[in-house]
Amino acid sequence: MNEHMNEQQIVVIGGSEGIGFAVAKAARALGARVLAASRTKGKLEAARDKVSGLEIRVADINNPASIKELFSELSGVDHVYIAAGSFKAGSPLDNPLSEFRHRFDERLWGSLEVVRAAHHLIRPGGSFTFTGGLSSDHPIRGQWVNGIATLATEQLARVLALELAPVRFNAVAPGPTDTPMWNHIFPENGAQALSAFTTKFLIPRLVTADEVAQAVMLLMQNEAMTGETIHIDCGARLV
Ligand SMILES: NC(=O)c1ccc[n+]([C@@H]2O[C@H](COP(=O)([O-])OP(=O)(O)OC[C@H]3O[C@@H](n4cnc5c(N)ncnc54)[C@H](OP(=O)(O)O)[C@@H]3O)[C@@H](O)[C@H]2O)c1
Repeated sequence: MNEHMNEQQIVVIGGSEGIGFAVAKAARALGARVLAASRTKGKLEAARDKVSGLEIRVADINNPASIKELFSELSGVDHVYIAAGSFKAGSPLDNPLSEFRHRFDERLWGSLEVVRAAHHLIRPGGSFTFTGGLSSDHPIRGQWVNGIATLATEQLARVLALELAPVRFNAVAPGPTDTPMWNHIFPENGAQALSAFTTKFLIPRLVTADEVAQAVMLLMQNEAMTGETIHIDCGARLV
């Protein structure tokens, strides 16, 4: 395993906040060149202010042209991490299905658009890492579409590992993680709204974005790992 990532090119889709930002920060700390992409220029600029040398681009995983443009300026890529993905809670019988369908489409077809745009650039030993989640293994009431969508990305890693070897494909499956995502879902108290839920976990707390990033760095750096999903969930899927 390389302890350093000097001269390696990492691309993080969804790299301006939360888990993606933690991955961008960790890869920069190991000396990689890191290109962080997301939809919002202001968030990207704030990320660049916090991580010296971070390169930023506006791109939307739901817009294939913007993903193609993002990779068109690169001559080679070592690792890609995809954090982009949104959350929609609700009963399968409520809300227009299109609102739920979008959550599935962006994770499955959005991830595949990234692979199609970047695959030819991946250098030997390189990899893609997708983001799964707790609700893949442990269905959570109201989070049915997320469970289907994250399970699809975990399976996407396995099938692409087979289809497109020797390029490596893996996934990380976080449990509830302390990130800005929860501020949109629970505007009053963000991730702290989950504290009652986390008390039953084997390790009774939220995961940190840095802990998820550690797993992503392992998946990037260990060249024997492919088709793997690493769970970083404080044991939540076992209870
Ligand atoms: N936090 C958790 O508890 C948890 C648990 C399991 C799985 N996950 C999954 O892990 C991933 C990251 O979660 P997070 O908690 O770090 O979320 P977050 O704090 O909301 O950060 C999401 C990042 O992705 C970007 N993004 C969102 N939609 C995008 C799009 N369409 N195209 C490009 N970039 C986009 C956001 O920036 P812009 O808004 O500027 O685009 C931001 O940089 C998500 O897929 C989430 O579902 C999270």
